[in-house]
Amino acid sequence: MPGRHLAALTLVAPAWLIAVACCTNHLTGGDLPAFREAPAFRNGRGCADAPTINIAMTLDATYLRGSLAGVLSILQHTSCPENVIFHFVATSPFHPLRRTVAASFPSLSFRIYRFDSALVRGKISSSVRRALDQPLNYARIYLADLLPRSVRRVIYFDSDLVVVDDVARLWGIDLGHHVLGAPEYCHANFTAYFTDRFWSDPDFPRAFDGRERRACYFNTGVMVMDLEKWRAGGYTRRLEGWMEIQKKAARIYELGSLPPFLLVFAGEVKRVGHRWNQHGLGGDNVEGLCRNLHPGPVSLLHWSGKGKPWLRLDAGRPCQLDGLWKPYDLLRRRGDRDPFAADV
Ligand SMILES: *[C@@H]1O[C@H](CO)[C@@H](O)[C@H](O)[C@H]1NC(C)=O
Repeated sequence: MPGRHLAALTLVAPAWLIAVACCTNHLTGGDLPAFREAPAFRNGRGCADAPTINIAMTLDATYLRGSLAGVLSILQHTSCPENVIFHFVATSPFHPLRRTVAASFPSLSFRIYRFDSALVRGKISSSVRRALDQPLNYARIYLADLLPRSVRRVIYFDSDLVVVDDVARLWGIDLGHHVLGAPEYCHANFTAYFTDRFWSDPDFPRAFDGRERRACYFNTGVMVMDLEKWRAGGYTRRLEGWMEIQKKAARIYELGSLPPFLLVFAGEVKRVGHRWNQHGLGGDNVEGLCRNLHPGPVSLLHWSGKGKPWLRLDAGRPCQLDGLWKPYDLLRRRGDRDPFAADV
């Protein structure tokens, strides 16, 4: 209980020590919750020839519990867990986050990249849900710049999902000439993702002219990205261009980082099976109601929308499917037995 130790310290400590206590505590992330150590996952047979799998996720205090659950789910279901490299993107200070990840997954291959939120601060316009306006939500646009050139393909995952299948199957898809692979949802009302101002403009809707297929919604929480093609095609700049129009010229959409992706890639993504993004389990962006799975097989459960399984579980009002997230929860609860701590 670091908080109580600190309080006790301040009663007796000279001023210089109080200052140290205050700031050290801040830097080591005194406010991050404690997490359990996950079991170690080892490669099975036949992994020597298996590919290295690069996965990118964001890491922040708010979604840390979700990110760690996502990592655990990936490792647990893949046959070559030691071949997976995680690329975490965080805004500073990320040392406490690094310590937390390393403590829960001592043998995990991972790197943390600093995302400069000033990159996007001037380009974010407020949306229907404040959580969508966080700079880190836009980090996926900058992966091609953040990750080393040697990383030519990456899977981007949101922090509110669990993978219940071997991620190697998603990694191995053939992108062909496409830059992005993702499940596409053509029954969703595509019109609704943009404003009347957008559709009534003489030029904006022409962005979708000449696409390979009709422009359809896809969810940006699960994307296989060809970073080489992304870099060569200058896609970060293309997305930023739409964000600048939204911010400075005309309000063309209501959501955060999704519409720019639709503007640039809708109708041009490599279609991936819907099983790889059973999204919307968090409900809508306003009420967070319970939702059901889409018909068909399930390889990945995604709690996109306002409701998050850990919050609903903590509140004692879980949706039925939240029970599927719970086995991946690494949060250490008060009273949990810590096998390494002496009984007090
Ligand atoms: C699609 O959304 C637009 C804009 O919100 C709306 O005007 C239109 O009626 C919707 N179409 C269908 C088929 O629901």
